This record gives sequence, structure tokens and C-alpha cells, in this order.
Amino acid sequence: MKILITGGAGYIGSHANKLLNKKGFKTVVFDNLSRGHKEFAKWGEFFYGDIRNKREIHACFKKHRISAVMHFAAYAYVGESVSEPAKYYENNLSGAINLLDAMREFKAKSFIFSSTCAVYGVPERIPIIENHKRCPVSPYGKSKFMIEEILKDYESAYGIRHVNLRYFNAAGADPELEIGEWHEPETHLIPIVLRNRSVRIFGTDYETPDGTCIRDYVHVQDLAAAHLAALEYLLEGKRSDSFNLGNGSGFSVKEVIETCADVAGKKIKSENSKRRPGDPPVLIADSSKAKKILKWKPRYIDLHAIIETAWKWHNK
Ligand code: UFG
Repeated sequence: MKILITGGAGYIGSHANKLLNKKGFKTVVFDNLSRGHKEFAKWGEFFYGDIRNKREIHACFKKHRISAVMHFAAYAYVGESVSEPAKYYENNLSGAINLLDAMREFKAKSFIFSSTCAVYGVPERIPIIENHKRCPVSPYGKSKFMIEEILKDYESAYGIRHVNLRYFNAAGADPELEIGEWHEPETHLIPIVLRNRSVRIFGTDYETPDGTCIRDYVHVQDLAAAHLAALEYLLEGKRSDSFNLGNGSGFSVKEVIETCADVAGKKIKSENSKRRPGDPPVLIADSSKAKKILKWKPRYIDLHAIIETAWKWHNK
């Protein structure tokens, strides 16, 4: 029996695929390489396909005996989702439904879903716990929220159990430097600062100590470890649930820029710019539930150490 990893050629999916193979699982990466990289899918088998195409998903399930699915394949730019919502609903929503329908037909019963802190929208309380009201403000966050709802119905009717993993800000790279963060175009703060000598700060008038947005950065390898834990949890027959994945400490945009400059040993010029639409001022996770129930232990709790792995990858 194999684990299907959609989007396994992407940033977070490739780290999960590498870890699963290290632990002896047999995996199949399903990816259309629109945002991922073929050279990242170097563990397990590869199936070229698009989740929007039912025939391709069907062919993959026919070829491989799939027992569980980790679903990473999705568009994930908040800003783009505001200007092109159709693209997000087609890929993130219809694509996920196609995948769930194939699971139904081929009787695969465990689903691990890449959800996001964006399902909470602008949070009312920090740190955020899992039963905080979900009120997404972008089509991206809404597409993830809708799948979380659909999963409840698919469990009641078809017995597909699921774990929603709500990531905060994924950062860093594989310490063995085989894979790392590589987005085209790059919109994320840390890689932008590491690649360049200047950066625009989107908003300096937020109600935060230095006026810039605060985020909770979590290492991509720790996210991969949470997927492994969630898989084992579902394979043990435990009940569907949702978990936040973050470090529990927040860093402002200015602090992140300073830390990147320090790690890279270079001067970064920053230019104050207007707020980016869809950015909540503060996002910090309470991940105690994942620690307690999934026995998840993040290994990278220091921002400097997280950025160091990203910098090494960037130089490679
Ligand atoms: N930022 C800048 N300048 C840049 C890039 C980013 O100031 O050039 C700021 C952003 O405005 C934000 C912070 O840096 O305040 C972090 O931005 P990222 O783009 O690195 O990450 P996001 O917080 O926007 O994105 C993350 C995840 C998404 C998720 C989102 C929820 O990557 O998947 O959080 O808000 F949906």
C-alpha cells in the first residue's frame, strides 16, 4: 500500500515525501509541475498529473494501491487569490473534490489536508487555538475552509477520515540541502530578503510594537514531521481532527529582516510601503494540541536557526 502525495514536487510536499521515504513508507508523488520542480520529486514514484483532471487522478489510483493521501497540491498566494479567485476555486476546491471522489471510489480512507492559518481570517484572540472562529478573508483562505467543511460530510457519508494541518508561516530548508524554498514568483518575506539587498515593508502602521506585521515562523522539516505524525495517527484508526502548526512566538517583519541580515552577513535596505491587502496584523499559533495529541515536537524553535537553513539552501 502506498501514500499518495499530491504536490510532492513543491516546497512543503517534497520535505514530507523525503521524510516518509526515510521512514520506510512507499510514496507516489502526483504533481503537474506548474509550481513544483521535478528535481524535488526524487523519492518514491512520480505520476505526472493535474488534480483538475479526473481522468488523470483516476489513472493514478488505478496504477497504484493508495491507502492514504497527503494533499499539498494547491495555489497558495493570498494576493493572487484576491485578483484571480476563479483559479483558486477551480484548483484548490474542485481539484480537492476530484481527489476525494477518487479516494471514495478506490476506498482510500485517510486524508491529510494542507490547511492554513488563513482559515481564521483576522483573529480575535492571540495565540490562536483550533476552535477559534474561522472567518477567512481571502479566496485562498476560503477555499481551504470550504474543504475542511466538505471533509466532515465525506467522513459521515463515505468514512474518509481526515486531519487538517493548519500551517502558520513555513520557512527554512532541508538541512541536507537537497530541497528548499523555491517559488516562482517569490512573494515570501524570508527568501526575498535572502535573495536581494533591498526589501519593501508592506505596512508600518499596524497596531504592533514596531508597526509591522507579526508572524509565527515554523520550519518546513517540522511541518513534514507533523505530517508523518498525522499519518500514523490516522493509520492507528484515531478520529478526524484539526491542528495548528506553529512555534508559538511571533516576529515582526522588521525583526525578520534584521535576522536575515545577521544570518547572511549583509546590509539590507528596507523601504516602507503600503499595506498588502489581506494581511492580518498578527498571526501566532497555539500548537499545544498538536504537541499533546500528535506528540509533535518542533525541533527548530529559534528564528535564527530556521533562517540559517534557508540561507545555506539559497547559497547552494
Ligand atoms: N512582507 C513584506 N515584504 C515582502 C514580502 C512580505 O513586508 O516583500 C510581509 C507581509 O506583508 C507579511 C509578512 O511579510 O506581513 C510575511 O509575508 P509572507 O508573504 O512571507 O507570508 P504570509 O504571511 O503572507 O503567508 C503565509 C502563508 C500563506 C498563508 C498566509 C496567511 O505563506 O499560505 O500566511 O496569512 F495563507
